[in-house]
Amino acid sequence: MSKVQPPADYGDRQNRLATAINNSQLDAIALNAGPSLNYLTGLHFHLSERPVVGLFVPDTPPVIILPELEVGKLANLPYPVQPFAYGEDPDEWGATFRDGARAAQITEKRVGIEPRQIRVLEMSLLEAASGTTKFLPGEALIAELRMVKDEAELTDMRAAVAVAQNTLNNIIPGIKPGLSERELAADITVGLLRQGSDSEMPFSPIVASGPNSANPHAFPSDRRLVEGDMLIIDWGANVSGYFSDLTRTFAVGEVEGEMERIAQIVLEANSAARDIAGPGVPAEAVDRAARKVIEAAGYGEYFMHRTGHGLGLEGHEAPYIRDGNALELAPGMTFTIEPGIYIPGRGGVRIEDDVVITTDGLESLSDLPRELRVLGV
Ligand code: CO
Repeated sequence: MSKVQPPADYGDRQNRLATAINNSQLDAIALNAGPSLNYLTGLHFHLSERPVVGLFVPDTPPVIILPELEVGKLANLPYPVQPFAYGEDPDEWGATFRDGARAAQITEKRVGIEPRQIRVLEMSLLEAASGTTKFLPGEALIAELRMVKDEAELTDMRAAVAVAQNTLNNIIPGIKPGLSERELAADITVGLLRQGSDSEMPFSPIVASGPNSANPHAFPSDRRLVEGDMLIIDWGANVSGYFSDLTRTFAVGEVEGEMERIAQIVLEANSAARDIAGPGVPAEAVDRAARKVIEAAGYGEYFMHRTGHGLGLEGHEAPYIRDGNALELAPGMTFTIEPGIYIPGRGGVRIEDDVVITTDGLESLSDLPRELRVLGV
């Protein structure tokens, strides 16, 4: 795929992290292999049995502790780093971590970590290497940076949405009674790869038909589509590490009247949330706008999840669009809007879009038709 893309400015991201550290109670941030390390350095490591840790200290080039076989990834970086590499013998790792901790001067300090990401493996090596240093939750610092996407990130997210939408458009004509959820999920997965998704999918596609569509997190089964089914497809692509996450609901042939009605209500809830979202609007107000529509129609108890979640290098990240989250939305924030109604034993509807806050409102990155489409007849 050809695309004109502004390069990511990792030096700028590291500088902004340094400012955030200086304005906090922390002296440094320690990250293992994962999305935040990728965000700050552009370095992509698989989480494996060999630990990789980045130590970020203001006014110091990042310290990267890594296996020798990964050192090649540090060649030609557009910013300085201090690499500390270890060999295959785990008994060496402690000494390498001590050297790295000394270079970063993180003994007797307060170091932020991401509790959801770092493992006991990395923590115990860091603790053994850094004397009386205290390790404290620091994920908010990085979430604040990652929440607001720059142009390079938005370019990738737009591409990830396009890959997902093109994939579904190619598959829709083949959806008909007799096809199983598993077969449809396989077609979507292969289609995403052919359309240009990176091989690490954001998540496995959800294909839920008939009564299964009443389960928001169903796994594709061997159930075959029959006329009268509701069909929920929740799928997404990965372009350069950035994810899309979309859901559309279909009717297989003619469905009962109440299913058509809840599809219309969810469509209105999705629109209400997109209409209200904008800079300065609290995340909880977006949730409330969608929920109000569904409650007013009498289906409040059947909408049992939040309205959306942040989206970017992770499938679920800040900002969370839920009741009680007073965070004010700001330009560049990307998240999903995905209200749903699920009636146990019968069927469900979810309509999920990926959106970005702009200077004067909201732009939906996804534009597939949201109305209930009748397929397979
Ligand atoms: Co989602």
